[in-house]
Amino acid sequence: MKFITVDTYAKMSRRAANIISAQVILKPDSVLGLATGSTPLGTYKQLIDWNEKGDIDFSQAVTVNLDEYVALDSSNNQSYRFFMNKNFFEHININMNNTFVPNGCAADLEEECKRYDENISRLGGIDLQLLGIGHDGHIGFNEPDKYFVKNTHIVDLHESTVKANSRFFSSEDEVPKRAITMGMVSIMQAKKILLIASGKAKRDILEKAFFGPITPEIPASILQLHPDITVIYSED
Ligand code: F6R
Repeated sequence: MKFITVDTYAKMSRRAANIISAQVILKPDSVLGLATGSTPLGTYKQLIDWNEKGDIDFSQAVTVNLDEYVALDSSNNQSYRFFMNKNFFEHININMNNTFVPNGCAADLEEECKRYDENISRLGGIDLQLLGIGHDGHIGFNEPDKYFVKNTHIVDLHESTVKANSRFFSSEDEVPKRAITMGMVSIMQAKKILLIASGKAKRDILEKAFFGPITPEIPASILQLHPDITVIYSED
């Protein structure tokens, strides 16, 4: 594991964008696993900038997102599909048909989970997975539990996650209580993992996740077993 600490969010975002662009330059048809949330926004901005300058080309890239709220469709400005379109996909030269986000409005959610995993397998797995980390150690929406969940599945979000995510909604009541998330198999089978985190409030959970015991009570701790993971933490 490479654990890099930098002093500013801007430096973290630039380092992360460097790693992602190196991946896409070396393998233009890379399958990129992507995350939403506040942390990757700077990384996406940097990649958009390099794409505009012609330094990085996403025309052959494929993306698979980690998660989506149940019952929010792509037109809902709180859905993760909307977030990805607005903050990344609409600004780069990617083929929208090659961007995949779980469908939280599927009539049969179990079937959607199965389909999502099959699609990842069909694509040959993930080349580089970008992750954030929740205060309780969740990755994607894999919440602390008694066991690690392997496949894409439906989760009941923990109270702390609903609370943390309520900053994007007008009230906590509006935050969906269920989501679809990729499971640990697709994440752990990614050839490379890049986890980014920023701010002092994340320091404690990073320490537990990467330097403590491996336990499903801290889902991110499983990443210690990954052979090629880089963590970039910014202190500010
Ligand atoms: C979102 C996701 C979540 C976030 C985590 C941290 O797609 O996978 O696990 O990465 O909740 O969110 P932020 O970056 O907002 O602190």
